Amino acid sequence: MSSSPAPTADSTPESPEPLKPFRIQLAERINRLPQYVLARVNALLHEKRKAGQDVIDLGMGNPSEPPQDVVIEKLMEAARDPNNHGYSKANGILNLRREVAAKYFKKFGVRLDPESEVIVTIGSKEGFSHMCLAAMGAGETAIIPAPYFPAHMYAIVMASGNVITLDVADSEKFLSNVAYTCQHMTPRPKLLVVNYPHNPSSKTVEPEFYVEVVKLARRYGFMVISDFAYADVAFDGYQPPSFLAAPGAKEVGVEFTTMSKGYNMAGWRVGYCCGNAEMVRALGIIKGYYDYGLFQAIQIAAIVALRHTEAAVEAQARLYQDRRDLLLDGLRKQGWQVETPRAGMFCWAKYPEPWAGTLSSLDFSMKMLEEANVAVSPGSGFGAAGEGYVRMALVENENRLRQALRQMGRVLGERSGRGLEKVGT
Ligand SMILES: Cc1ncc(COP(=O)(O)O)c(C=O)c1O
Repeated sequence: MSSSPAPTADSTPESPEPLKPFRIQLAERINRLPQYVLARVNALLHEKRKAGQDVIDLGMGNPSEPPQDVVIEKLMEAARDPNNHGYSKANGILNLRREVAAKYFKKFGVRLDPESEVIVTIGSKEGFSHMCLAAMGAGETAIIPAPYFPAHMYAIVMASGNVITLDVADSEKFLSNVAYTCQHMTPRPKLLVVNYPHNPSSKTVEPEFYVEVVKLARRYGFMVISDFAYADVAFDGYQPPSFLAAPGAKEVGVEFTTMSKGYNMAGWRVGYCCGNAEMVRALGIIKGYYDYGLFQAIQIAAIVALRHTEAAVEAQARLYQDRRDLLLDGLRKQGWQVETPRAGMFCWAKYPEPWAGTLSSLDFSMKMLEEANVAVSPGSGFGAAGEGYVRMALVENENRLRQALRQMGRVLGERSGRGLEKVGT
């Protein structure tokens, strides 16, 4: 008696051929996204910490202080309210949007309609990325500053747009390069991203800069997104200007702000997009499909933070200023070239010879981590314009910064002969 072979796990009665291993075929856009800047540095950092080593982490701009008690208490109270656990409004609750509008008026003299010109986002990065989806079509071009915060580049890439990077070092040159690009490109760029105080370079601008941005936007017809993540972290009496305070800004663009940095609420994911009503509405449409907004208890606590903790935000900025002074002093004694940042959470530093001529910023960062137990961000993680630099976040306390300087100095001193100077004391 003949019998057909019994089906096995990798064949069927209809097709006795063994099935090939299944291949996941992801979208091409995944291949356009490189590993995140800090991935290699972070992998080694975690390995070292797992092995019990004490690593001083100046890599990520992740605030180490908590928000004010009154904010945490409000969160707990709001979390106990059964009314706060359903889906919230994708745009954010109106009282929070009103509070954001009130802050803009108080701080910058900017009038915003909380109904149509303010939207709450899940951190400003989510808002920025979704705004790029709303604003950019396939093959359209955006201009961003170089070096760049990775989300500025890759949110546009994910929206299938093209990116032109323009050097951020000199703000006047930046503007003339924007004009030149618009004059010589067909079709013209559709979007300009500005980011001051800038991450990673800490460059800042004065209000007149935005007056020119608005003029160029009108002349060449591009929209503007201002990423104002470090609005609340400034030093020596400097107040970073808001793009929205420039005459006509609301007609051409929007601005993103966040509670991550100044308010020490990075993990809470609260940000805002304000300005042009049509762009705000478009972001709301995209968000309506992707998310249901932010946990309502967080939004209620964010109102308290905005209303009652301005003094703490200023105190936090002073803390960063003291750390900046200590770190700059120590780095300069070791032969680093660093400009004094007027705002932001970072020192953007050109590392010294002979390392500058011999090691890439990634190799230099790995060396600092391997030999000095200090994690820094390699400049190349912010694009080719960042090569030769590293970024150090001011997120460790002064004692830890002194320790970092001593440890880096020891490693650098092996060849430069300068690193063993007593620093930061
Ligand atoms: C320039 C810039 N924009 C946006 C963000 C992200 O902020 P959020 O936590 O609000 O998403 C950061 C955080 O590092 C940043 O440096």
